[in-house]
Amino acid sequence: MDVPVPELADRAAACADRLRAADSVLLASHIDADGLTSAAVAATALERAGIPFDVVFEKQLDEAAIRSIAATEHETALFTDFGSGQLDVVVEYADAVTPVVADHHQPADAAIECHCNPLLEGINGASELSGAGAAYCVARALGGVDNRDLAALTVVGAVGDMQAGVDGLTGANEAIVAEGVEAGVLQAGTDLAMYGRQTRPLPKLLEYANDVRIPGISGDESGAVRFLASLDLDLRADGEWKRWVDLTDDERRTVASALLKRAVASGVPADRVNDLIGTTYTLTAEAEGTELRDVSEFSTLLNATARYDRADVGLAVCLGDRGAALDRARTLLRNHRKNLSEGLELVKSEGVRVEEHVQWFDAGTRIRETIVGIVAGMALGVDGVRRDRPIIAFASAGPRSTGRRAEADGGDDGGDDDGDGEVKVSSRGSHTLVRRGLDLSTVMREAARAVGGDGGGHDVAAGATIPAGEQAAFIDAADDVVATQLK
Ligand code: C5P
Ligand code: C5P
Ligand code: C5P
Ligand code: ZN
Repeated sequence: MDVPVPELADRAAACADRLRAADSVLLASHIDADGLTSAAVAATALERAGIPFDVVFEKQLDEAAIRSIAATEHETALFTDFGSGQLDVVVEYADAVTPVVADHHQPADAAIECHCNPLLEGINGASELSGAGAAYCVARALGGVDNRDLAALTVVGAVGDMQAGVDGLTGANEAIVAEGVEAGVLQAGTDLAMYGRQTRPLPKLLEYANDVRIPGISGDESGAVRFLASLDLDLRADGEWKRWVDLTDDERRTVASALLKRAVASGVPADRVNDLIGTTYTLTAEAEGTELRDVSEFSTLLNATARYDRADVGLAVCLGDRGAALDRARTLLRNHRKNLSEGLELVKSEGVRVEEHVQWFDAGTRIRETIVGIVAGMALGVDGVRRDRPIIAFASAGPRSTGRRAEADGGDDGGDDDGDGEVKVSSRGSHTLVRRGLDLSTVMREAARAVGGDGGGHDVAAGATIPAGEQAAFIDAADDVVATQLK
């Protein structure tokens, strides 16, 4: 059988062999879009292979989480979208539970037999393969059925981890896209590269798009409406604005070319103008005009569940529930969007502190710690936040209105044991900085360890947990590490 990522064929086969030999498997995964799709890909493959399993989600795979996984009846644990960074701890529990890891984070210094990670074979784990991609390789190796249909969810995971550039997915990810297209579950196309083509009314689509800022349209509701009204098109139906998906091909071309013209006329640089059009991915089996049809919107829907203690809801949607779970997910999505936009407003109004090599803000309890990284990433594009240095954000667990509200209407499943004395750190950089030597995974690990915490992640996006009160010392340490990296 041909394999999607030849470099990982042996590793995926070793993982698959171990899983097939197991009486039962505990599947443990991370609480974000990539973690959920990783779990869905793995769960579907295990199910199809007739291997009994249970699923658990963890915000972080710390020692306590590993200990509780090891304490279950299951003899084998399949870690997806985490595990590599904690391999040194995982091996200490290998007598209690045999570890199988499908991940794409920087591995800690330890070795196990069943470890499917692109970084071990020279493939970039931040841009060329996601956790879902690693899980997909194992799913394809498990066999029975060929599992190519799982490429659709895998692409949602990769895009959810921000692995797609304007030209779409590259490297190993691209091979998975090709399998999805072949299997008929995925379509790749060239289209307006704006978030919300399936679900946002046109003015909102244009107003909220901030990857490429167009003066007089981006962030400007009446400007967006005026622009649309100036086109000689019928962009409303029954008094409501149409969405991008409602337009005919001709109408789309007209809007897109007017938008490009407008961007050029308002002085947007040519390379940025080009970024308005990009590669987009569509899940062909999903209904038009739903969040599930567009991979970006799907991934945001998943973050809206998992980052609010409702990974079960997101997983159910991934596994095909289009009833109660999808309804619940949509409610959570409204709440997530509100929190993201409030978080971004907070950063805009209060600004960031600029140090020599980093910039930072401390949201305290005002941004939920599980989404502060997403807000930090979105903030890198806004006025008042520089793009020439990485951004670091702090958030504290504790009483927070937004989170509580989500839990109240989301029916919290409990089990959230945030320590009072800890602060969550998230950091985001740009690809330009990474090309100059930035590796935030090392920055977070070293600066956190310097103040009694720990961290990790990817070169372009990483996080940490540190003791409360150590923010200033952490920034000093991080500033030093970034200084040496960018020297
Ligand atoms: O744990 P994990 O790998 O899933 O976290 C990935 C996170 O890193 C995503 O939530 C995404 O926001 C961020 N990221 C990013 N830019 C990249 C890659 C990842 O902001 N190029
Ligand atoms: O939530 P997630 O990390 O998947 O969001 C990915 C990107 O989608 C964000 O960085 C943001 O640019 C965009 N987004 C948005 N509006 C939302 C949610 C996400 O523009 N409500
Ligand atoms: O939480 P956030 O979205 O900022 O995480 C960014 C990246 O850093 C993710 O890949 C996450 O898994 C990683 N991370 C980590 N250790 C932490 C916190 C985050 O490896 N303590
Ligand atoms: Zn991931």
